[in-house]
Amino acid sequence: MPDRFSYQELFAAGVPETPPGKTRHARYDFAVAYPNPDTLPLDGLADAVRSVLSREGRDLAYYTDPGGYPELRRLVAERLARSRNMTVDPDGGLVLTGGSGEAISMVIQALTDPGDTVLTEEFLYLGTLRSLHRYQANVVGVKCDESGIIPEELDSTIQRLKAEGRRVKYLYTIPTFQNPLGWTMTLERRRQTLEITRRHGVPVFEDDCYIDLRFEGEDVVSFHSLDDTGQVIYVGSFSKTIAPGMRMGYLAAPPEVISRAWAFKMGGAVNHFAALTIAEYVKHGGLEQHVQEQNESLRVKRDAMLASLGENFGNAATWTRPEGGLYIWLTLPEGANLEAIQEQAFQEGVGYYSGTQFSPDGRGQNSARLCFGYPTPEENYQGIAELAQILERHGVIN
Ligand SMILES: Cc1ncc(COP(=O)(O)O)c(C=O)c1O
Repeated sequence: MPDRFSYQELFAAGVPETPPGKTRHARYDFAVAYPNPDTLPLDGLADAVRSVLSREGRDLAYYTDPGGYPELRRLVAERLARSRNMTVDPDGGLVLTGGSGEAISMVIQALTDPGDTVLTEEFLYLGTLRSLHRYQANVVGVKCDESGIIPEELDSTIQRLKAEGRRVKYLYTIPTFQNPLGWTMTLERRRQTLEITRRHGVPVFEDDCYIDLRFEGEDVVSFHSLDDTGQVIYVGSFSKTIAPGMRMGYLAAPPEVISRAWAFKMGGAVNHFAALTIAEYVKHGGLEQHVQEQNESLRVKRDAMLASLGENFGNAATWTRPEGGLYIWLTLPEGANLEAIQEQAFQEGVGYYSGTQFSPDGRGQNSARLCFGYPTPEENYQGIAELAQILERHGVIN
C-alpha cells in the first residue's frame, strides 16, 4: 500500500480545522435552531417548481445575472418597502446570496483587516462570531439589557477604544429577536445607537434574519429605514421563513459596499433554481400564508416553554419573553455552570447551548439559549421540566 498523501505542509497559514459537523439530537432538543421538517411548505414549493420551470426552466442552461435572479430581487425590494419601510434599489443596491451567512461573511471580508475592532452585542450568533474570528477581528461585546444595546455602554466603549488608539470598524447587530438573547431592540434604542455610531463614524451592520417571525406585538422599524445616509448595511434571509436548505439570503447596502463585498462572492451567482422557486412561491402568495401559520405555531411553542419555565424554575432563574423568533435566554444565578453540565444534560435527554458559546470573551457560563421552534409544544413543556430535574440532580440549582 502506498503511503497516504499528506497535505500537512500545504495548508494556507492560519486555516482552522472545522470539520463539517453532523447535528445530534437530544430527546428534547433546544439546541437546534431550525424549523420542524413536518411544517415545511413542501406542497407550495413543489407547485412553484413545476410552474416556474415550465415557463423559465430553459434559463438554467445559462450562468445568470451575477446579482441573482432579477425578479426575486425585485420581489425582495418590494417586500422590504412594504413591511420594513425600506427604500432599496433592486438593481445596484441589493444582491442575492447563499443564505444571509454568505452575505455576512462577504461584508466581514470586505471591511475587516486582521486586528480591526468590531463591536457586537455581548452575545451573538455563532456563525458571525466564528467568521469574525476567522478574519482575525478583535470582537468587543457591548452590554445589553432587554431593550437592546445600552447606549451609554456603546458610547463609553467606543471612546475607551479610541483612547487606546483603536478604531472601531463597524457595529454588527441583530436588533430583532436577537440570537441568542431573544429580545427586540426598542425604537428609542435604535435611534440612540444610530446617533452614537454616526457621531463616531461607525457603520451599523444590521442582521434582520428573524424579522418575519413575529407572533406578538408590533414591528419596530429597521435601522436601515431610520437612516438615509448609507450608514446601514442590511442582511436578510429566506432561511427562517421558508427553510435553511433553500440557502437564499440578500444583502442591501450602498453600491460601494456591495461592489467590495462582491469580490468575496464565491462560485458565481446564487443558485438560480432556488431563486426561481422562491420567486414563484412568493408571487403566488404562498410565503405570507405560510409565515402566518408558522408564527401561530411558534407562539404556542413559546407559550409552552414559558409556562414550563415558570412552573419548574420559579425563582431559581430568569428568562426572556420574546415576541417572536426562536430563542429564550435562560439565566441562572452567578456561579451556576450550564457549560460544564451541557454534555451531561444532552446524554440525559436535553440539548441546549450554554451562553459561553455565543460570547466574544467566553462569558455566560450561567446562561443558556433555548430554541423553542423545533420541538412540539408538549416536548417544550416536558423538556423544560426534565432540564430542571437534571440541573437539580447535579446540584446546579436547588
Ligand atoms: C442571526 C443570524 N444571522 C444569520 C444566520 C444565517 O442564516 P442563513 O445563512 O441560513 O440565512 C443565522 C442562522 O441561524 C442567524 O441566527
